[in-house]
Amino acid sequence: MGAPLQRLDGKVIVLAGGAGGIGSATAQRLAAEGARVVVGDINHDAAQQVAADITASGGAAIGARVDIGNRESVDALVDLAMATWGRLDGLHANAADLSVQHLDSNALEIDLDLWQHILQVDLTGYLYCTRAALPHLLVSGGGALVYTSSEAAFYGEDVRVAYAVAKSGVNALMRHVARGWGKQGIRANAIAPGLVLSPTVAALPQEFREQVLAGTCSTRLGDTADIAAMVAHLMSDDGAWVQGQVLSVNGGSLFH
Ligand SMILES: NC(=O)c1ccc[n+]([C@@H]2O[C@H](COP(=O)([O-])OP(=O)(O)OC[C@H]3O[C@@H](n4cnc5c(N)ncnc54)[C@H](O)[C@@H]3O)[C@@H](O)[C@H]2O)c1
Repeated sequence: MGAPLQRLDGKVIVLAGGAGGIGSATAQRLAAEGARVVVGDINHDAAQQVAADITASGGAAIGARVDIGNRESVDALVDLAMATWGRLDGLHANAADLSVQHLDSNALEIDLDLWQHILQVDLTGYLYCTRAALPHLLVSGGGALVYTSSEAAFYGEDVRVAYAVAKSGVNALMRHVARGWGKQGIRANAIAPGLVLSPTVAALPQEFREQVLAGTCSTRLGDTADIAAMVAHLMSDDGAWVQGQVLSVNGGSLFH
């Protein structure tokens, strides 16, 4: 592979949920393309480590703890970007609490506290990110909001009801933002990854992974870098006319 593109020189981008598989790959990619990145995650140590790795390889990043399900915490993350670099050009809302996915069952059986928790983190957290970032993006003269959705929003699975509802809501939120602020230079898009081998997913049984691979039109499952590349595209001027879309990056597991 050649030298990385430099499409994000000088941009300041906040990543909410930046320490996991997709998040850390995205933070690295954005920084490699010249962005200054605030890596926020509920896992504070991991966020600091991602930022330290970026800094060690010559990029600009700071790590911080954020609970995306807590409005003050999200506001503080965006405030940190403003206090450190004085502007904001993009935000990627990427966090999801996948640690409870095995308990996310169906409409009859799901525990209602769990339902509320998943919606709070995986959906309302994305609203908090939007509310915190939008005013600053408008002051910057425009900017990009990228939301991580999921193919689960389209499948109609008989499990993961709360996750699918949350991700469907993320798609609706994204379209609302694109319609509401597009004329003021805000671009909002969502990425719906297929099965991506983040550490969380790589730990799933091999049989399951083979089954999913068989359902794709690709020679492999997803790599975190596949999603990071799409985020970088959407954050850059190369994505200038991509607006209000849910972009499937899925090796052809589902066509739209
Ligand atoms: N990996 C896949 O196959 C896949 C497929 C479709 C969608 N996604 C989506 O991609 C995103 C990243 O997933 P991943 O596979 O990298 O998983 P991951 O578990 O590695 O990453 C999720 C990150 O979110 C963080 N997080 C959890 N709760 C949080 C909170 N309350 N506040 C802030 N951060 C919090 C975690 O600490 C973790 O770093 C998620 O939104 C997920 O739904 C992943």
